[in-house]
Amino acid sequence: MRKKNALVIGIANKDSISAGIASELYSNGYNIIATCLNEKALPHVTEVTNRLGVQTLFPFQVGNEKQLQDIVFYLREKGLRLDTFVHGIAFASEIKKDLHNVTWESFKESIRISAFSMVEIAAALIKADLMNPGSCIITLSYIGSHLAVEGYNMMGPVKNILESLVRGLASELGGKGIRVNALSPGPVLTRAASGIKGFSGLLETSKTASPLDRTATMEDIGKMAYEVIGNPSINGSVYLVDCGSSVILPVPMDQEP
Ligand SMILES: NC(=O)c1ccc[n+]([C@@H]2O[C@H](COP(=O)([O-])OP(=O)(O)OC[C@H]3O[C@@H](n4cnc5c(N)ncnc54)[C@H](O)[C@@H]3O)[C@@H](O)[C@H]2O)c1
Repeated sequence: MRKKNALVIGIANKDSISAGIASELYSNGYNIIATCLNEKALPHVTEVTNRLGVQTLFPFQVGNEKQLQDIVFYLREKGLRLDTFVHGIAFASEIKKDLHNVTWESFKESIRISAFSMVEIAAALIKADLMNPGSCIITLSYIGSHLAVEGYNMMGPVKNILESLVRGLASELGGKGIRVNALSPGPVLTRAASGIKGFSGLLETSKTASPLDRTATMEDIGKMAYEVIGNPSINGSVYLVDCGSSVILPVPMDQEP
């Protein structure tokens, strides 16, 4: 049987959610094609990718057309067509600022890197006919896309745009047999998350709010990604993977009525 191919963009280190997804895909027989932001990240990325049979790591920064075309060229030359593209990219230079203090420059940059990059990369892959019919693009959102979460600041509206792009792309690409979905995990301590003000409090609150008294692990998220990627009926969806913490409204029980 033909080996399935996954392009995974978003591994920064062993704690990255994309590393969890890539591991799950690899253990289910996928061939992993991965990227690395820059030289500095290389040892942290290879710590993950060496275990996943990745031989070549492609440097990739959003907006670098040459780097994107190098990936396209490689896939074409090797005759590899993708069964999934995992988009695990997010960046917000002013994440620590209150939303009303964020500059347009920073907001615009964050939309490009964290949301629109999914469209740009998908467009390059589709133009080169590198996505197999039945394939699935998957990205990562957060409940802050439609709830105001303290500390999440500018990333809430950016994730809202990302989720809207998921629906728009799903609608457009269905005719080519390509599905587009997002997972919306609860908080996981990663490099990107460590930039969020009060993240440890958010992690603790989510754990306490969860009826299961825990938050989702990288393994949970990886397994969900594998299911969504493999299920031909799932399209244009945003799936919570948060142990139920976002469906509970915490109410203090020790107060008199
Ligand atoms: N950690 C959480 O609690 C959590 C919860 C829900 C959703 N998410 C989302 O999961 C995704 C992955 O984040 P993570 O938490 O694994 O953190 P992470 O820091 O491990 O991953 C973020 C990735 O974005 C990449 N990136 C940043 N700027 C880039 C650029 N200009 N060009 C190319 N790549 C760039 C980084 O290299 C890194 O690999 C993000 O979309 C994040 O918003 C995270």
